Amino acid sequence: MTSRTIELKGKTALVTGSARRIGREIGLELARQGMNLIIHHGSSDAEAASALREAQALGVQAQVIKADLRDPGQISAMFAQVERTMGRLDVLVNSASVFASGAFLEVTLEAWQSALAVNLTAPFLCSQHAARLMGEQGGTIINILDLSAYAPWKSYPHHSVSKAGLKMLTEVMALSLAPRIRVNGIAPGPMLRDEGNSPEQWERIGQRLPLKHTGDPADVARAVTFLATEPFITGAILQVDGGELLL
Ligand SMILES: NC(=O)c1ccc[n+]([C@@H]2O[C@H](COP(=O)([O-])OP(=O)(O)OC[C@H]3O[C@@H](n4cnc5c(N)ncnc54)[C@H](OP(=O)(O)O)[C@@H]3O)[C@@H](O)[C@H]2O)c1
Repeated sequence: MTSRTIELKGKTALVTGSARRIGREIGLELARQGMNLIIHHGSSDAEAASALREAQALGVQAQVIKADLRDPGQISAMFAQVERTMGRLDVLVNSASVFASGAFLEVTLEAWQSALAVNLTAPFLCSQHAARLMGEQGGTIINILDLSAYAPWKSYPHHSVSKAGLKMLTEVMALSLAPRIRVNGIAPGPMLRDEGNSPEQWERIGQRLPLKHTGDPADVARAVTFLATEPFITGAILQVDGGELLL
């Protein structure tokens, strides 16, 4: 038997947190591959509207759904809307995340619960809904982690626990949902600077990597397309990190 890559054109993808930054690039890359796109967002209404216009300009069907991922009821409503409007789902990318820092003894219960809710419980619930919606034709789920899934980041205790949990969730689901649904993860290295780093600090972060530069959201987006189309990969975590995990 000759194995072929999976065709994405005409199929449907939902990317959480895809109004801006990395999630947006993932969604638009899948749209460039011809996928109909559901742009999920939390509070970035204007960015979601502009991502919608960009996706529609690529000639695919696209829609925006707003849902607070800390609220299981809003997650259920989102999938009910996907079922009603698209009738199917082929690819789910769990990309939305909160990046919360704090010394261990200063992490409040609220901050702990919020990190776990968005970064771990929401991917769990979204994946359950997606797996049911994917039905007999199957599909694929891709979770976006980071390198704190492998080793703890001292200033990000709750975040590290959430991403380590998401790595295990990826592996548990790969086993549980096979052979109908493939489940993989991507662990990006430094891709997009946030307010926590000055441009100079960001440059130094890149210089410390074996490949001597930081990454780009497009690097993650191409990795998503790769995992979505390769039929014999499940339970894998693909590092897109300039070699950082080796340090
Ligand atoms: N940035 C990096 O360099 C980097 C490196 C390694 C891994 N990653 C991972 O890659 C993924 C994307 O990274 P990013 O930096 O683009 O992410 P981000 O900007 O931190 O967050 C992505 C989106 O998550 C959504 N979100 C957060 N809380 C939510 C909630 N309660 N309900 C609904 N949506 C919520 C936000 O949507 P709204 O804006 O609409 O509220 C936000 O735009 C994340 O999983 C991250 O951990 C990023």
